[in-house]
Amino acid sequence: MCGIVGYIGEKNAKDIIIAGLKTLEYRGYDSSGIAFVDNGKIDVYREVGRITNLEDLIKDVPIAHLGIGHTRWATHGKPSKENSHPHTSMNKMITLVHNGVIENYVEIKNDLVAKGYTFSSETDTEVIANYLEEEYKKTNDMKQAIVNMMNDLHGAYALGILCADQQDALYCVKNKTPMLAGVGTGFNMIGSDAMAMIKETNKFIEINDLEFLIVTKDKINIFDKEGNSINRDAFISNVNATDINLGTFPHYMLKEINEQPTVIRTLLSKYLCDGKLNIDQELYQQIEQADRLYIIASGTSMHAGLVGKYLIEELAKKPVEVHLGSEFGYHLPLISEKPLFIFITQSGETADSRVALQLVKQQGYKALTITNVEGSTLSREADYTLLLHAGPEIAVASTKAYVAQVTLLALLANALADNPIDMNLELNKVNVAIDDIISRKEQIEKLVKDKVITSRNCFYLGRNLDYYVALEAALKLKEISYIQTEGFASGELKHGTIALIEKGTPVIGLITQEKIALNTRSALQEVKAREATTIIIAQKKVANNDDDFIIENTHHLLSPLALVVVGQLIAYYAALLKGYDIDKPRNLAKSVTVE
Ligand code: M6R
Repeated sequence: MCGIVGYIGEKNAKDIIIAGLKTLEYRGYDSSGIAFVDNGKIDVYREVGRITNLEDLIKDVPIAHLGIGHTRWATHGKPSKENSHPHTSMNKMITLVHNGVIENYVEIKNDLVAKGYTFSSETDTEVIANYLEEEYKKTNDMKQAIVNMMNDLHGAYALGILCADQQDALYCVKNKTPMLAGVGTGFNMIGSDAMAMIKETNKFIEINDLEFLIVTKDKINIFDKEGNSINRDAFISNVNATDINLGTFPHYMLKEINEQPTVIRTLLSKYLCDGKLNIDQELYQQIEQADRLYIIASGTSMHAGLVGKYLIEELAKKPVEVHLGSEFGYHLPLISEKPLFIFITQSGETADSRVALQLVKQQGYKALTITNVEGSTLSREADYTLLLHAGPEIAVASTKAYVAQVTLLALLANALADNPIDMNLELNKVNVAIDDIISRKEQIEKLVKDKVITSRNCFYLGRNLDYYVALEAALKLKEISYIQTEGFASGELKHGTIALIEKGTPVIGLITQEKIALNTRSALQEVKAREATTIIIAQKKVANNDDDFIIENTHHLLSPLALVVVGQLIAYYAALLKGYDIDKPRNLAKSVTVE
C-alpha cells in the first residue's frame, strides 16, 4: 500500500523520484521520504504529510545520481517522521524503503537487539535495514546478504535498498508485493508501478516473487532467491504519460466520472466485433462450459461482481456466486463440478484477492482475472485476463473501473444468452443517460447541499439491481465524505434497521426496476413517516414528477451503469462541500497490497 521509486543514472535523481512519488501518492499519503548516496554517505530526508512537504524540505539538496523514495500508508506505527521511510541501519551502512508486512520481524528484532542493535522506530522495516547491515558486515557481499535475508524473512516485501559504500548500485527485492524495473538509456529505475516511471521510460522488466535485482545505470541484473542469474526480456507498456494528467478538472474523481462514456465506448470497440463477443476462444469455452461461476473481489469490484451475477443469471441462466476475497481466501465454499473463478480487480494487486487466487490455483482450478492493469500480479497469476481498458484510475474512490467492470460483465453475460440484447444500441443509450446526468451535475450538488451534507449518517435503499447500486453508492459516500452510510435492501429495513431512522436522516431511494418500484416507494413512505428526509432517484419509466432526480431510460439490466453515476456525484459533492481531500481520503490507499 506504500509506493516506491528508485533511480540510478545521469539525471538528477531527486527530481525524477519526486515526480514518480507524486504519481504513487494514491498508494499511501501519510508521510514520505527520500535517500541519496553520495561520497560514501547516505543522506535521508523524511516528512509527514503529502509529497509537497517533502519537496519543500529537499529543495536545496544538491544533485545526486542514485536515490530511493517512498510514500507511506502506515501499517506498523503511526504516521510520523520517525516511522517514515527510508529506514537506516544503526551504523548508517544501509538505507531502504519497504512496501509490505514482515511477519517474523519481532523474532529478527530480538536477535538483532541481542547483538547490540538499537532501533529508533516502531516499524518492521528498520529491522530489515539492521538485518542487512549485520549480514553485509559478515559477508562483505551485498548479494549474499540479500540471499540470506530472503531465506530468513517471512512476509510480503518490496524493497529498494542503498548501501553507503556503493555509489553505483541500487538493490531491489520483491515478494508478494508489486514492483517493476524501468529500463532506460544511461539510467535505470525501480517502481511500484509503471506510472511512477512512465515520464522517463515505457520499457519495463517484470520482477517475480522471491527475486532480487542489482541495478546499475547501464544494466539490470535479475537473480532468484539462491542468487542464480535470470534472463528476462523487457516489454513496452501502453500506459501513456498524458493519461495521468488532471487536465482542466479540479479532481481526478470528477475527471474519471466524466470519462465513463468513453470507457464504455472503448469496451464496445475492444470486445464487440460485428455484434459478437471478441475474446480468446479457449476462455470463452471455459466460461460457457462452467456449471457455476465464482466471482471473487473486494470493495467496489465486489459490488460490480454482484451486478455481474444478476446479469449472468438473468441473461445466461448460469449460476454465479460472489465472494469477498478476504473471506474466500480462508474458507473455500463447496465447489461445483466444473467451476470457473473470476477475479475482478481494478489494480490487479489486491492482496485479499491474491490469497484467494493462490488457493484456487493450488486446487487446480482455472481462473480469469478482469483487471484494469495489464501485467499486474493477479493478471499474471491467473490463466486468463480480460482488460478493462479504463485508463489509469487515480482517485482512491473507484468510479470508471466499476462502470468498466459492469460493462464487461454485461458483454460476457450477453454473449452466453439465448436471447441476447443489442449491446451496441443499449450501451449507447446508457451513454446518453450518463452524459445527461453529468450535464445536470449542479442539480445533484444542490440536492446534496439541501438534504445530505449536514448529516451524521445516511441510507441508500433499493431492491434487486438497485440494491447492488445502493451498496456501491453508499461505499462512495462514506469513503470520501466520511458520512456513515449504509446501502440497504429496502425490504429489509423494517426487520431492524428502521430503528436508526431519526428526524432528518437522509434516505436516498434508488428506483429503476419496474417490478420493485412500488416496493421501494413503500419503504420510503415508512421512513418518511419517521421523519426521515427522503431523496428519490428514479429512472424516467418509473419516476413520479416530484422525484428528486430523474434518469433517462436504459435497458433495465443496464440501469446500474447510469444510476451509479448519480451516487458517485452525490459522494463527490458531499466531500467537496465538506472541504475534504476528494482524491485522497483519510486512512485509505488505492491499491490494498497488504492483507
Ligand atoms: O483494485 P481492486 O479493484 O482490487 O480494489 C478493491 C477495493 O480496494 C476498491 O474497490 C476500494 O473499495 C475502492 N476504494 C472503492 O472506491
